[in-house]
Amino acid sequence: MRYGPLILTLSLLLAGCDDMNHQPRYDSYEKSRLFADGKALQAPPDGTIGRDDLQNAQALANRPPVNIELLQRGQQEFGIYCTPCHDTAGFGNGTVPARGFPHPPSFHIDRLRQAPSRYFVEVISKGHGVMYSYADRVSPRDRWAIAAYIRALQLSQDADAAGLPPEDQAQLRRAGS
Ligand code: HEC
Repeated sequence: MRYGPLILTLSLLLAGCDDMNHQPRYDSYEKSRLFADGKALQAPPDGTIGRDDLQNAQALANRPPVNIELLQRGQQEFGIYCTPCHDTAGFGNGTVPARGFPHPPSFHIDRLRQAPSRYFVEVISKGHGVMYSYADRVSPRDRWAIAAYIRALQLSQDADAAGLPPEDQAQLRRAGS
């Protein structure tokens, strides 16, 4: 008899669980008599736009000004989302391709050096070949930040010494001699 109250409590709890499983609502793919096509899941009416669609489209269309803050953000986001495959310097030797995923091209090839920044934003948004889209993880502004950072990476491997400040040019000459 000692277990009586415990058993009663447990059976009440389990009965409660069953009620949670069978709520008076439709699951996505259930039938419904409410709509003419007999489906509970209805397509949004024509012309429906997502709450953030307009803002996102504007942020994608307008390149933000490149400054140190944008570059730092780009460095951070690139480190999180791109380095696993493209590696920290953008040569395409990340840890994921090292384990069998196809190798991405290096960002330091002529074709990608000459590609406009918008191209990188597009690849992040839509994916490219076997690389999937990052649109659901990287905001439009952050895509521009990553594109700016890729430009900085490209410059880091292909800088013209004549563009350096005179003191750096002098240091370079000293190092070379
Ligand atoms: C899971 C691995 C992986 C990740 C993570 C990844 N990429 Fe890629 N990326 C690839 C592969 C593989 C290709 C080559 C795809 C192909 O040609 O089929 C590629 C190609 C590219 C290209 C070159 C497209 C061209 O014209 O050849 C760009 C630019 C690029 N990725 C940018 C990025 C950026 C920016 C990020 C981070 C937001 C990123 N990738 C994250 C694997 C990855």
